[in-house]
Amino acid sequence: MFTRTIAAFIALPFVAQLAAAETCTRTYTAQEGDICDSISAAQNVSTYQLAVVNNGIIDDECNNIAPGTSYCLGWQGEDCSTTYVVQANDDCDIISNAAGINNTILYLNNPQINTDCTNIYIGEVLCTASTVQVPPAPAGSPPGSSIPPSATAANSDGDDLPYCDENGNPPAASGTSSATSSAPSSSATGNSDSDNDDGDDDDDDDCDDEST
Ligand SMILES: *[C@@H]1O[C@H](CO)[C@@H](O)[C@H](O)[C@H]1NC(C)=O
Ligand SMILES: *[C@@H]1O[C@H](CO)[C@@H](O)[C@H](O)[C@H]1NC(C)=O
Repeated sequence: MFTRTIAAFIALPFVAQLAAAETCTRTYTAQEGDICDSISAAQNVSTYQLAVVNNGIIDDECNNIAPGTSYCLGWQGEDCSTTYVVQANDDCDIISNAAGINNTILYLNNPQINTDCTNIYIGEVLCTASTVQVPPAPAGSPPGSSIPPSATAANSDGDDLPYCDENGNPPAASGTSSATSSAPSSSATGNSDSDNDDGDDDDDDDCDDEST
């Protein structure tokens, strides 16, 4: 056993191949103006998968996409190309139902989604395959967890997003947050749960202080 392991090791022509354990199934050459989620949406690669495949290459905030650079989009055997772009008023139940899957699979394929599904945002790309197809998340915060500063929460539960300040207020001026900073009266749209004081996140209006 031990001998065989050694033999397999030295049979590799280049030690460098040991590091490249994964085989890339598809690539994309970045263009001017690309951001991670625009690449994800256009190429059918989830926000999580793009981040985990490029962990250590693309930074957490996706600020270093270099036009002309080729990025791997998926690894052999771990490449989900069944994707969905999050829309306004989506929540995990709506997305799962529409895709004909259950939330267990949705969460396994998109490990950056938090337990209450309050951190999904419009434009985020989710894997909606009916089997687990993405690479496992490394230890720590899953790649793809960083929410773009301009992101708009997909639903009224989304008070975990960074556009809410520490007092729970939306920023004074923002071109993109109007969908969530307006009209608490419409806040229950798309959710089966509601402002019913049962202690869950629904009981907070948009951007309310988490402690309320
Ligand atoms: C992405 O998926 C859609 C829907 O299945 C398909 O029409 C489109 O051609 C795919 N795009 C790429 C780049 O694979
Ligand atoms: C979710 O769907 C998967 C795949 O169809 C299935 O194996 C699993 O048992 C389901 N889980 C629940 C809790 O229904």
